[in-house]
Amino acid sequence: MDEQDHTLTGLSAPEIRVLGCLVEKEATTPDNYPLTLNSLRNACNQSTSRDPVVSYGDREIEQALASLRERGLTRTVHSTSNRATKFRHVVPETFELDHGHTAVLAVLLLRGPQTVGELKTRSDRQHHFEATDDVAAVLRGLAERGLAVQLERRPGQKDARWAHLLGDTDAVLGDGEGEPSAVSTAGAPSATAADPADPYGEATAEFYDLLAAGHWEVFGLELLDALADVDPAAGPLVDIGAGTGVGLPYLHAAVPAASIWAIEPSRAMRTALHTRLSIETDLQAVTTVVPDPLATADLPETACAIVVSAALGHLTADERGRLWRYVRDRTPPGAPAVVELLPPHEPTAIPPTRYRALPVGELVYEGWQEAEPLDDRRMAWTMTYRVLRGDDLVGEHVVRSSWQCFGIDEVRGEIEPLGLTLEPFGEAVVVRHR
Ligand SMILES: C[S@@+](CC[C@H](N)C(=O)[O-])C[C@H]1O[C@@H](n2cnc3c(N)ncnc32)[C@H](O)[C@@H]1O
Repeated sequence: MDEQDHTLTGLSAPEIRVLGCLVEKEATTPDNYPLTLNSLRNACNQSTSRDPVVSYGDREIEQALASLRERGLTRTVHSTSNRATKFRHVVPETFELDHGHTAVLAVLLLRGPQTVGELKTRSDRQHHFEATDDVAAVLRGLAERGLAVQLERRPGQKDARWAHLLGDTDAVLGDGEGEPSAVSTAGAPSATAADPADPYGEATAEFYDLLAAGHWEVFGLELLDALADVDPAAGPLVDIGAGTGVGLPYLHAAVPAASIWAIEPSRAMRTALHTRLSIETDLQAVTTVVPDPLATADLPETACAIVVSAALGHLTADERGRLWRYVRDRTPPGAPAVVELLPPHEPTAIPPTRYRALPVGELVYEGWQEAEPLDDRRMAWTMTYRVLRGDDLVGEHVVRSSWQCFGIDEVRGEIEPLGLTLEPFGEAVVVRHR
């Protein structure tokens, strides 16, 4: 993973162009692939399917190739029959991407920020997608791996655009391309076992209850207080990003007469959640699982209360807009939306830190986290789950995700224009309308 971290950021413009061209040409002109320096220069300087159009000389391209090779993203091919040195990329291997993900990434590299519709059309020569939804799923998969980000819509823009994150972040996001929005990445996938159909991923779900349960020992008790006066007749209690359902017993204990809607897009998380429901039959009787992200999830007509635990930073700006409007329009006056704000509230570099070590049978499971700021609001988290037998490391699963930091002021800035109020509540805020 170190090697992957190393290759993830900071590529120069020529490196991005060279990499995009190698991927594109492998798919579109396989007979001429790997590419000679000459054909690579022509590919880079092509006047179609490139934004911006550039005119690189051999020197720039050779420098880009040398640096890409050092990062482990390209290889040099020496043919014995033909003396020309050729170049190929190893993007799918390095980033563990399938063909569709690789094609969409290449179009982002070659043409900058684009909408899902544009990406579907423009990647077609490399990989055919049946529907725009398929491309959207691929983009979410790339976001899970820290390779792409959804940009906020600019005024007058109908569809949000996506950008790759292989370059210097400022260069990709900071030049009037719009503010990055939060990317849905929770419980993100293992770098080795990611499934594009399950963007929130397996490794975090696999270790979640064992390694993260401590969080609920504090937050669960706070919730009992925050939800004390909720009227269950007003509708279900909605848990957004319910995860494995580790918090459901607290929700049920807080408002025993309420039904619960658990909104959870990750299949891996839902697997654990459904197992929990099969064991805890009192929860099974009251819990409705909605298998979608908040953007598209069915929500009940009205709700008696809302809980967002360790999930706000995964929601896009549009999803947060939906959340706050739902609080305003669909909950009774005074009903609490308890929204946890996980520290740090500002993007902060966090060195590798072991947050939990737990004996499990003959093994010890360790949870490690580290993070680095991505921009002024978002952080890139790397979670590493280690399995040890004595001193021997017998398993390691790495998960990368991006997270938008929120402090009270950021939440206030979003809710006050809608006429909502906010009170701090331990590590959470309680949002209501009067
Ligand atoms: C860190 S987990 C927290 C789970 C649970 N709330 C808890 O506190 O134990 C974050 C959860 O948010 C979910 N999530 C991520 N993006 C989401 C989205 N756009 N809409 C709803 N849930 C989302 C993830 O799948 C994940 O299960």
